[in-house]
Amino acid sequence: MSRQLIHLIAAARPNFMKIAPIYHALLNEADWAQAVIVHTGQHYDHEMSAAFFADLGMPQPSVNLEVGSGSHAEQTGSVMIAYERYCQAHRPDWVIVVGDVNSTLACGLVAKKLNLPLAHLEAGLRSGDRTMPEEINRIVTDSIADLLWTPSEDADENLRNEGVPAERIVRVGNVMIDSYELVRDKIEAADVTTELGLAGAFGVVTLHRPSNVDSADTLRELMQVLAEISRRASIVFAVHPRTAARLKEFGLEPSRRSAPGLRLIEPMGYIRFMGLVRKARFVITDSGGVQEETTYLDIPCLTLRATTERPVTVTHGSNRLLEPHALAAAVEDVLAGSWPHGRRPPLWDGHTAGRVIASLRKRLPAAFTPRKG
Ligand code: UD1
Ligand code: UDP
Repeated sequence: MSRQLIHLIAAARPNFMKIAPIYHALLNEADWAQAVIVHTGQHYDHEMSAAFFADLGMPQPSVNLEVGSGSHAEQTGSVMIAYERYCQAHRPDWVIVVGDVNSTLACGLVAKKLNLPLAHLEAGLRSGDRTMPEEINRIVTDSIADLLWTPSEDADENLRNEGVPAERIVRVGNVMIDSYELVRDKIEAADVTTELGLAGAFGVVTLHRPSNVDSADTLRELMQVLAEISRRASIVFAVHPRTAARLKEFGLEPSRRSAPGLRLIEPMGYIRFMGLVRKARFVITDSGGVQEETTYLDIPCLTLRATTERPVTVTHGSNRLLEPHALAAAVEDVLAGSWPHGRRPPLWDGHTAGRVIASLRKRLPAAFTPRKG
């Protein structure tokens, strides 16, 4: 029997850290598995895409569907049309989607309409906030997936409550941690603080949720708070392209004079970004992945959101959800050393990819007898 053709769907920045460990683990399973990275092209700037393939030791994708940006319907529809065509020409045995972006949903729908086995890595996360586009993507993808790989107990519970049969749910842990461990040596060798001329306590900021950056009033308030905080500690703000576009559109780009301690820089590659985060006194973010990485590293994480689909980062980790008006006081707590330490959630151990592979091996077709050794 020929090897199992496995599509790994990559689309946007947070996806690359989720597929890299699976890609590398599948290379060791070459007797039964052939992994093909399918990039939908949702993110396309070098610093939002290619930089991560280089940092995480992955080859360039086998195919790039080049869908680019657009409204939700445009983007989701374009991915569906392009990926359906690709699947018809290169029919896979498994489609693996990760995370919660529009391409996750689009490729999941294509797979199931073609009756292809679908696995979702990072299944079961729920914020409870259906105004988040990602929440819709999560709910729909999980409702059609055949195999749901979850990062934490809360995710299993969410799926059970939605009626997903228990045999489809496999707790594998947090794959983002595998990526960190994969390149830990390089992260620890990256001297980004010297490169950026940072001395003393500093904070790192990332913001890109539409709820924070798409309204001029909200973004103005956030920039004012960041300017205020930057009088107490230097701040490096790695600006997502959505946010860069809004800052420009709303005329909110800070000047060196108005906020000397606040430095805006381009989005960073993974190794340099994590190299910076691990040295930070605090992180201000609305990112899903950054909430997890700061929990792993026990760095105070101040999350500018009302809800999180990653509650273990609050119950176990160093994360707190905050409104903008509470941010400056929270930073004072951090600087005063009164931010409680967190602990790592179970199975956030760098071995998630191994558990994913084991779960796939259990589902090999009966006729398939893998040769090992
Ligand atoms: C997307 C995901 C979000 C994820 C985020 C990670 C959806 C609905 N949203 O949000 O869940 O947290 O990625 O970063 O899937 N742009 C560029 N260059 C790029 C990519 C985007 O300039 O390489 C700009 C374009 O102006 C685009 C805008 O950013 O319109 C938004 O991009 P899009 O992929 O639609 O959503 P994100 O905000 O990146
Ligand atoms: N990240 C990075 N450089 C940056 C910002 C983020 O390498 O400048 C990495 C970081 O590992 C983070 C991941 O990108 O966890 C996902 O980022 P993003 O916030 O875009 O997506 P989300 O996790 O919110 O979906």
